[in-house]
Amino acid sequence: MTTAKLNIVPFVSVDRMMKLVIAIGVERFLTELAGYIEEDFRRWELFDKTPRIASHSHDGVIELMPTSDGHLYGFKYVNGHPKNMRQGLQTVTAFGVLADVGSGYPMLLTEMTILTALRTAATSAVAAKYLAPRGARTMAIIGNGAQSEFQAIAFKALTGIDRLRLYDIDRSASRKCAKNLAGMGFDITICETGQEAVEGAGVITTVTADKQCATILTDNMVGSGVHINAVGGDCPGKTELHKDILLRSDIFVEFPPQTRIEGEIQQLDPNHQVTELWQVIAAKAQGRRDAKQITLFDSVGFAIEDFSALRYVRDQLQATGLYEELDLLADPDEPRDLFGMLLRAAMQPAA
Ligand SMILES: NC(=O)c1ccc[n+]([C@@H]2O[C@H](COP(=O)([O-])OP(=O)(O)OC[C@H]3O[C@@H](n4cnc5c(N)ncnc54)[C@H](O)[C@@H]3O)[C@@H](O)[C@H]2O)c1
Repeated sequence: MTTAKLNIVPFVSVDRMMKLVIAIGVERFLTELAGYIEEDFRRWELFDKTPRIASHSHDGVIELMPTSDGHLYGFKYVNGHPKNMRQGLQTVTAFGVLADVGSGYPMLLTEMTILTALRTAATSAVAAKYLAPRGARTMAIIGNGAQSEFQAIAFKALTGIDRLRLYDIDRSASRKCAKNLAGMGFDITICETGQEAVEGAGVITTVTADKQCATILTDNMVGSGVHINAVGGDCPGKTELHKDILLRSDIFVEFPPQTRIEGEIQQLDPNHQVTELWQVIAAKAQGRRDAKQITLFDSVGFAIEDFSALRYVRDQLQATGLYEELDLLADPDEPRDLFGMLLRAAMQPAA
């Protein structure tokens, strides 16, 4: 996407993002975004990679997530504050930038709260494509907050899940999730306990928010052959699975140096064997081997997924026109005359 004026940067507000998702359709958006994520995971080795830069506080975390493929640079600002929900605020909010490595100029500034929910769900569904038991149609979703519907729709679009078993400690969250997904082709059951939710499920998604090492799944809840999509444990001291489940599972991760700090595997020995998801996608490592194996995608969210999402949104702008023009960069007629530009502005009559 090119803009005629170099000082203008396309800006996608929350309003425009919603219009973009609605115009494209949520399922199609998730499917196409998953394609971008797979494409970038296949060229994983090209990227600059670093664990995200986290600033922890008593109530939550604020993180910066940068990466580059040498041509484009992207970063996301994102928070995680489980207590926010009780004050009517989102647990997770985000925005991000895509920039041209050649000039260093930003090419896109966008909201990423909705985009993060979409990219997290798309990444989970991509992982499940390679790891979930063949033909699985039932998914338990434990934690029915902001991310939950996105997870359900991504799994439907990419893996054929069409039966949902919902559980949340707050039943109103499950009711909200079921209501939002009504008419979208799911058979939905709201369950009384996590144990009830996992019954008969080939895929178990845990997507709860709590700033502690919680035990959303105990070992006895997980039968052989299931795929666990563990999304909510994504910070030091914030996990969802009992350690014994990890010891029985084949574990797949995004970027090990980050996941060992933030993921479920923070509970394990630092040398515990894990497989990088990109290697499975690039056919350099095996995904699911057999029907009895427990596979675990220990999702924490990695910068390359946000980079893919930024690329995808950038590629939709020209056709949809769903952006505003942001006067973000100073653009004096003579690049070295920045101060002169200020003086000339001072001499102009106030509008
Ligand atoms: N891995 C990733 O890439 C990624 C991306 C985005 C968010 N997340 C994480 O996903 C989690 C959920 O995010 P959200 O935006 O949906 O949060 P949210 O606050 O909107 O929803 C969380 C839900 O979990 C429920 N819950 C809390 N403890 C529970 C328990 N013990 N059993 C059952 N339900 C429980 C809450 O009642 C709430 O409805 C957060 O921890 C967030 O940090 C991870």
